[in-house]
Amino acid sequence: MDGRAVWVADVHQCKDCGMKKTENVICMKKICKSFPLEIGGEQQVLFDIDININAGEFVAIMGPSGSGKSTCMNIIGALDSATSGVYELYGRDITTMNADELARVRNEFIGFVFQNFNLLPKRSVLDNVMLPLMYRGWVMDDRIRRAREMLKLVGLETFETYLPTQLSGGMKQRVAIARALAGDPKIILADEPTGALDSKMGNEILKFFNKLNKELGITIVMITHEFDIASYANRIIHIYDGHIAYDGPVPKSESVLTKSEAKVHAK
Ligand SMILES: Nc1ncnc2c1ncn2[C@@H]1O[C@H](COP(=O)(O)OP(=O)(O)O)[C@@H](O)[C@H]1O
Ligand SMILES: [Mg+2]
Repeated sequence: MDGRAVWVADVHQCKDCGMKKTENVICMKKICKSFPLEIGGEQQVLFDIDININAGEFVAIMGPSGSGKSTCMNIIGALDSATSGVYELYGRDITTMNADELARVRNEFIGFVFQNFNLLPKRSVLDNVMLPLMYRGWVMDDRIRRAREMLKLVGLETFETYLPTQLSGGMKQRVAIARALAGDPKIILADEPTGALDSKMGNEILKFFNKLNKELGITIVMITHEFDIASYANRIIHIYDGHIAYDGPVPKSESVLTKSEAKVHAK
């Protein structure tokens, strides 16, 4: 076994990990999240979040700083768990998984892209892209071949021996995307992927996400605090003070989202 899901055809379920081939790939029901406070007690950050995302969607989770977007993404990506509520990824309640199972699911199903790229600064571009495949147990030749393919996809095939520190911000983010894609993920979770880039480089990254979504059918969940960036997606989930204030198609104007915040205030 090379770490890939083995689908049992008739039940559409992986015999090893229990994930199902469902249309509704991310299903959150009444998710709440609280963090303990040092002074005692706790701070609730997410309140009864319901999110359903289907395979092939490009969704932006938008909201002001501190509204709970990253907390929500960490739960979606199985990097953190909810305090209460149900979260099913590919039809499997992941709260029942142990740490090894969770690591495997993350590695196989999800590609992560972060604002600050999270590249290993002392390793070459090629090494950085190969890394997730090492955890899959791929042999070196296969890892190199796949990493080179991915670097070609993001237009950086001539930079494989460079260190991340020698590259521009936009190029670093493309390396991070190549790394996220190396494992052939079904879902890309991107937390403020253009947050450290100027608008030109940011636009390039967003167009690339669009291409990955349209041409490769990858489900994309992108977090941003900016409406202009969220508008690249096909749907916006607006989170405000830990509540969902709006969930629907990209509105013509941001004022629709601002108005939806009143609903949260009224709670
Ligand atoms: N690990 C943590 N421990 C304690 N509080 C946290 C933790 N992570 C986030 N928070 C708090 O949760 C709130 C929402 O944070 P976050 O999800 O990062 O918001 P956003 O990504 O929308 O800016 C903030 O008040 C933040 O301080
Ligand atoms: Mg954040």
